[in-house]
Amino acid sequence: MQGAILAGGLGKRLRPLSEIVPKPLLFVGGKPMLDHALSAFEALGLREVAIVASPFTREAITSHLNNVDNNIDIRVLLQEKPLGTADAVSVLENFVDDEVLVVSSDVTLNVPAMVSLVKFHREKSPLASILGVKVKDPSKYGVLLVNGATLTGVVEKPKEFLGDLVNSGIYVLSKYAVASAKDSPISVRGEKEITDTFVSLSKSGLVMVLPDNGSWWHDVGDFRNLLMANQYYLEFGLDQKGYVRGGDIKRVGKGTIIGPSFVADADLIEGEVGPYASLDSGAKIGFGCHVRNTVMMQGSGVLPAYSVRNAILAPGALATSEVHGTQEAPALIMPSGSKIRQRMLLFTKAGRLAFIRKI
Ligand code: GDD
Ligand code: MG
Repeated sequence: MQGAILAGGLGKRLRPLSEIVPKPLLFVGGKPMLDHALSAFEALGLREVAIVASPFTREAITSHLNNVDNNIDIRVLLQEKPLGTADAVSVLENFVDDEVLVVSSDVTLNVPAMVSLVKFHREKSPLASILGVKVKDPSKYGVLLVNGATLTGVVEKPKEFLGDLVNSGIYVLSKYAVASAKDSPISVRGEKEITDTFVSLSKSGLVMVLPDNGSWWHDVGDFRNLLMANQYYLEFGLDQKGYVRGGDIKRVGKGTIIGPSFVADADLIEGEVGPYASLDSGAKIGFGCHVRNTVMMQGSGVLPAYSVRNAILAPGALATSEVHGTQEAPALIMPSGSKIRQRMLLFTKAGRLAFIRKI
């Protein structure tokens, strides 16, 4: 079995952050989303992985991979135009031998759940197996309609309640299913969707769904979910230097790290960090600061004595005041030179971006 990562989306709901960091490379829970996927594949013992990139993401992904060290043979496949998830899957046609484990680069992953999916696929041997997850707000996802374990339909982003089991973006596909993806119709959003491929294959009764309680699953499609995903990965545990477990407190030079947190450069910490802080390389905290439930991307910083909570600092951004977002409406700090440097994102009850207020 081979692995594949879909990494070509535009990340519209994560703008303006996704304009400077492509969604698959967003630093969440101690490493870029793409690296979480590669770690999961490595843990599953997969040795051949394709990353399907678009012209928009390819360069950044390729240069990022130069600094990634693992035991996987990684191939970056280019999709000429990002025409949707089914179009991205069809790029895999010559890569796949028998079957492929496909994941979206914008969802959190859980290795035991992926092991169960592979086992399920081997037992049932359908054309495709989908990992279904239960969520509170199914209207943002593809709702799976099932009869027992057999898929009977998928409704993308339904306006009315049809069920709470949704498509996680994690699949095992047979070579036949991969080859069928190119025949998907163009959807209302002008793309070929993998869920439409599943609907047409389901007519044969050979697309199966493995349900999961989904407690670990987050779609990193917006800022609120980015912070949720950060919490999940930090809580679940990271096998890398710089990780401090939940319940642990680590003193480093002039600073303190409260777990669960991840700090790449502990010698740049002079204040208190955590819980739920993820600091990428070069992230710097001044004396007397307190940073919690926050993602600080590469080279970002907080000036001395300020407290930052529920926030996302883009690469190179500097917090020059108190920054207090909420879990529902995280604050986003962009680097100087961006059109708007500090933004508080406010969400409607449904979790959609309602408007942006300058702070
Ligand atoms: N290479 C490539 N090319 N990747 C793509 C393209 C494309 O044209 N379009 C999307 N992707 C990647 C995105 O980067 C993301 O990792 C994944 O495919 C899913 O695409 P999104 O655009 O984020 O889709 P969505 O979130 O609206 O909905 C999809 O994902 C949900 C779960 O997160 C659907 O498949 C839903 O059914 C599903 O519930
Ligand atoms: Mg998505």
